[in-house]
Amino acid sequence: MVKVRAHSNIALIKYWGKRNEKLKLPVHNSLSMTLDRLYTETQLQFDTGLRSDRLILNGAEAPEAMQQRVQAYLDRLRALYPDASPDAAEIHSHNAFPTGAGLASSASAFAALAAAWTQAAGLQLSKQEISRLARLGSGSACRSVFGGFVEWQAGQREDGGDSFAVPLELEWPLQLLVLVVSAEHKAVGSGRGMRQSVESSPYYPAWVESHGQDLHALKAGLKAQDFEQVGEIMEHNALKMHASAMVARPSVLYWQPSSVALIHHIQALRAQGHSCYFTMDAGPNVKVLLPPESSEHTLQALSEHPAVQKHFLCRPGPGLQVLES
Ligand code: PMV
Repeated sequence: MVKVRAHSNIALIKYWGKRNEKLKLPVHNSLSMTLDRLYTETQLQFDTGLRSDRLILNGAEAPEAMQQRVQAYLDRLRALYPDASPDAAEIHSHNAFPTGAGLASSASAFAALAAAWTQAAGLQLSKQEISRLARLGSGSACRSVFGGFVEWQAGQREDGGDSFAVPLELEWPLQLLVLVVSAEHKAVGSGRGMRQSVESSPYYPAWVESHGQDLHALKAGLKAQDFEQVGEIMEHNALKMHASAMVARPSVLYWQPSSVALIHHIQALRAQGHSCYFTMDAGPNVKVLLPPESSEHTLQALSEHPAVQKHFLCRPGPGLQVLES
């Protein structure tokens, strides 16, 4: 029996679009912060008595679609490592946050699953190899293998051998305030949203063309610990990703009225002198980047907005941890 913990991550520079669907190879690099308070714990053991893999999520049998996704993923790992255990796995996973609400639960889930299965199978893999395997489950999961600030290198190889995450050498206790406006499952998953954007958005080429510049400038801001530069580029990058998705055909619109109300609120707070910038992923929730020493007044003004149902204040968190083996 093996038990591992992987933390979720939020991209400051987004991953949006694949160059290879099956291998989940991205069109471009992305950069994230691993979150200390949002994580998945996964316990896995092989069971010769089981006919197929079984996932228990937060104490209950996981829905069929999720079971199938996990089964297909583990079949892939078994095919990659034919000498490892062929037995089905019983998996108990627990998320310390709402599942499927744009809080990147698939990132922490697949990082944890890749680590738990390979560890239980007795494979001695480097973190880089686990990152590559996690990527096959959910692209952004490759970043959750590492702590702090992490860059996913898109790579160039057709087989994905050079597409994995790398931690940045940088310590800066920025804060990320996750504002949950809805914990419901999203209507259009990130996979479909990306595909529609790549295939039909007239703005997708502009997204790709300007992406390298955003990444470069954000990294320079991180290095210089220039909060305004990091925040401004992060917000611009998220708006650009959403603009490109909105004009896909059919349109992909993740924003709810409550998301827009929060965006206006954040911009108004900023005009009053509060340091805060937002980002959003494939869902309606809003994440706010704050400097390390943000005031109680700013935190309250954000978390007590009527659109906010729940909030989590995070700092950079650790990478993958093996809790029991
Ligand atoms: O890893 P996926 O397939 O869930 O895609 C994640 C996409 C975004 O969250 C919107 C961006 C990102 O880089 O995490």
